[in-house]
Amino acid sequence: AKTRQFKWRVEYMHWSPDGVEGVVMAINGKFPGPTIRARTGDTISVELTNKLLTEGVVIHWHGIPQRGTPWADGTASISQCPINPGETFVYTFIVDKAGTYFYHGHYGMQRSAGLYGSLIVEVAKDEKEPFHYDGEFNLLLSDWWHKSSQDQQIDLSSKPFRWIGEPQSLLMNGRGQFNCSLAAQFSKSSVPQCKLRGDEQYAPQIIHVHPNKTYRLRVASSTALSSLNLAIGGHKMVVVEADGNYIQPFSVENMDIYSGESYSILFTTDQNPSNNYWISVNVRAREPKTSQGLTILNYIPNFGSKIPISPPPLPPLWNDYNYSKVFYKKIFGLIGSPKPPTQYNRRFLLLNTQNRIEGYTRWAINNISLVFPTTPYLGSIKYGINNAFDTKSPPDTFSKDYDIMKPPPNPNSTYGNGVYMLKFNTTIDIILQNANALAENVSEIHPWHLHGHNFWVLGYGDGDFTTEDAETTFNLNNPPLKNTIVVFPYGWTALRFVANNPGVWAFHCHIEPHLHIGMGVVFAEDVHLVKNIPNEALTCGLTGKMFAKDKHK
Ligand code: C2O
Ligand code: CU
Repeated sequence: AKTRQFKWRVEYMHWSPDGVEGVVMAINGKFPGPTIRARTGDTISVELTNKLLTEGVVIHWHGIPQRGTPWADGTASISQCPINPGETFVYTFIVDKAGTYFYHGHYGMQRSAGLYGSLIVEVAKDEKEPFHYDGEFNLLLSDWWHKSSQDQQIDLSSKPFRWIGEPQSLLMNGRGQFNCSLAAQFSKSSVPQCKLRGDEQYAPQIIHVHPNKTYRLRVASSTALSSLNLAIGGHKMVVVEADGNYIQPFSVENMDIYSGESYSILFTTDQNPSNNYWISVNVRAREPKTSQGLTILNYIPNFGSKIPISPPPLPPLWNDYNYSKVFYKKIFGLIGSPKPPTQYNRRFLLLNTQNRIEGYTRWAINNISLVFPTTPYLGSIKYGINNAFDTKSPPDTFSKDYDIMKPPPNPNSTYGNGVYMLKFNTTIDIILQNANALAENVSEIHPWHLHGHNFWVLGYGDGDFTTEDAETTFNLNNPPLKNTIVVFPYGWTALRFVANNPGVWAFHCHIEPHLHIGMGVVFAEDVHLVKNIPNEALTCGLTGKMFAKDKHK
């Protein structure tokens, strides 16, 4: 195994992700940030310098469990202090599992500002993937607003509350088209055909393939908001990996992908080789107000710019949730994958509700809306600092009488930053319970992401988990391992994991504006076992004061 070292500068840069110039958060002058490629067992070391002028920064390595290095998880207020402007912080961690991952900012709404990139872990030199392919490509999906992420944060955190609305563009590897369409000739709208030379910042990245080969497409979604559906016109897709875990291969025409998820799909270039084909992404689960993202699958030796002869694939209806459920229910762990323990030690029932606190609009879990403390939990728990966060644990469950089909009868909730302390090696169940939001007949989709772990997805259901005999439907035989999972409108999703990774781990909705207004919880696992936290991770808040005092002794 190797150590792969990188030196990164994070800075703002003028850029035109969709043909309209704006400002992006770039790494070493690149948007999206550079792709990291490594092999299983390698050590990654990123020396990150914050060249932003007025804000801190952190980077989270999404899907990497950070065993032994919880201080490198890159979550502000949880694993470390934000890196101040001008300062440098070194992230060092091992990538122990092959798969498709990505990284992104995890302070405020820096994902929406464009701070993200791909992280790909190949199998070790002497190992083989459980499937064959002749070549591979990588698509990092995101959504883009013309309003700055700072303005978005202010809109969300002010009275009156202003929602960020739908994105202006969908980006594939940071490229989208706002004022023109690659497929204008097939649509009735008045958007003009894109006239591109190909070297524009917003020109699509064209994927070049040879006929009659099999390719692996790695896709990850770093969207701030959007749920997406991906399709390759004319081609079937075989899904083989989910969130860095091998799954039982299954074949689909198109697939949903939510923020925080990653997949690998295989496709065979078995179509008429004299044409090119569309790769498209469309908005799902919210009424689409954003035109589809497009790129071209180019069969060599056709010109890459040759427009496919048929219109881009049509996505399922945005609110056809059954379609989404059918897709999810096809995902099983690959034969031979680890199985979940059959019993749990502690079960959480986490109800998400939309609430108001002192006139602000917030999301809450079991009636508590998460606000991050100024001292990172990892430091305050490790060093036994008592007044850094609420010492009272948030509730494990919610009232049995709560009617999930109606707006909250009392929408007032409270701010909080308490932690769920988990006992070592215990098996934890989480039931995510969705409910009606503030407005009647509204319940949204939420993709939940757990740091530090993969979890088994035991099941899904409609309605209130507690009122049915839901547990009998659990799959304990071949559930898939994932790190991000959706809870569907008015439904529940059940997960299981083993608390065996010392550290402090966020569990939150991966829709960035939802997390920003409180939609998350925090788990702590045997923090006393955590060793070698670099002091630089903790030089803020009460741990910062503690170090300053120590120096003066
Ligand atoms: Cu990719 Cu806490 O998030
Ligand atoms: Cu959400």
